[in-house]
Amino acid sequence: MQVNTHLQQLKGNYLFTEIANRTQAYQQAHPEANVLRLGIGDVTLPLPPVIIDAMHRAVEDLAHAETFRGYGPEQGYHWLRQAIIDNDYTPRGINLTPEEVFISDGAGSDLGNLSELFDAANSVAILEPSYPAYVDTNRMAGREIIWLPCLEEHNFYPDLPKQKADIIYLCFPNNPTGTVLTRDELARWIEYARTNHSIILIDAAYEAFIEDPNIPHSIYEIDGAQEVAIEIRSFSKTAGFTAVRCGYTVVPKATGLQAMWSRRQCTKFNGASYISQRAALATYTPEGKAGIQANLNSYKQTARILSAGLCALGYTVYGGKNAPYIWCKTPDKMDSWAFFDRLLNQCQIVCTPGVGFGNAGQGFVRFSAFSNRKDVEEALKRMKTLA
Ligand code: MLT
Repeated sequence: MQVNTHLQQLKGNYLFTEIANRTQAYQQAHPEANVLRLGIGDVTLPLPPVIIDAMHRAVEDLAHAETFRGYGPEQGYHWLRQAIIDNDYTPRGINLTPEEVFISDGAGSDLGNLSELFDAANSVAILEPSYPAYVDTNRMAGREIIWLPCLEEHNFYPDLPKQKADIIYLCFPNNPTGTVLTRDELARWIEYARTNHSIILIDAAYEAFIEDPNIPHSIYEIDGAQEVAIEIRSFSKTAGFTAVRCGYTVVPKATGLQAMWSRRQCTKFNGASYISQRAALATYTPEGKAGIQANLNSYKQTARILSAGLCALGYTVYGGKNAPYIWCKTPDKMDSWAFFDRLLNQCQIVCTPGVGFGNAGQGFVRFSAFSNRKDVEEALKRMKTLA
């Protein structure tokens, strides 16, 4: 037996594990401390009652012979796939069929698993900084990575790859910088992919935070995108499902990959749970939509307060608009982890060190707005006292 040496060579802990370990160590040493968690982008507000009721009803279904369910379709229940199209795509003029929508147990799994569609010899272009799972996944598969630096001097916009990239990971609204792309900017990527026969994997987990009408909510709003793009979405950040686990991936038939993905899922994935899918369906009811919007509005308000407050304290900040993350420059070019430690030790605030998203993130930290007004106001008050 030989282990996967690519996986073995991954350095250190996964970013959010490292943050959790450091936070836990601090909390253990200071049990009295009220640690404010603005690190991982994890939701904090309770689910709307209509979603909870849907899960209770789904549990009841499993308790009675007449309504009992066993394995569901590996690709997800038709009623949820159709509801996704009717609510998330048709109103934006996008034509998709339910067979092109695959229900998942969250974006994280599919973002990793999709790489199985492609040969290990393919080159992969990844924005830097970026969500670390794209990098880890491709390193585990031993792929060559082409870095696309997103720098402050270019407002964190990536340039198109200078060499041919077979697979391109995009994330807009961007995690961690909060950058968004207009229709024209996204169209350049579609054109690149069409010209170079590349495939774009776009992580659209933060789509619900878009407020600007010039920013597309789906890559399929751009002509030709269905031939070259797979869109990964999640109910986690939209509807507060990080514990429930449900998301979906759109693999259009025009990519030529839909049947392969379906085949892969049948072998390796027995489908998202019936209870999660019933909960996801409830997000599209009028009460579900209203409840979700109320939670999103609260996070958006938190982002505005945090962003404005950090600016008032003299920090240089990006994002926080059309996105739940605030990308903040460390004072005096301080190292990201050093500033993380300083915030934790002096202010009992957890953030995410920018360098954890790649070297281009050095000298930045990321604050998550998945918190509440009281906590961010307290965080800003504590940061005012920073030496
Ligand atoms: C984050 O960047 O905080 C992540 O998106 C959390 C996650 O894994 O979903």
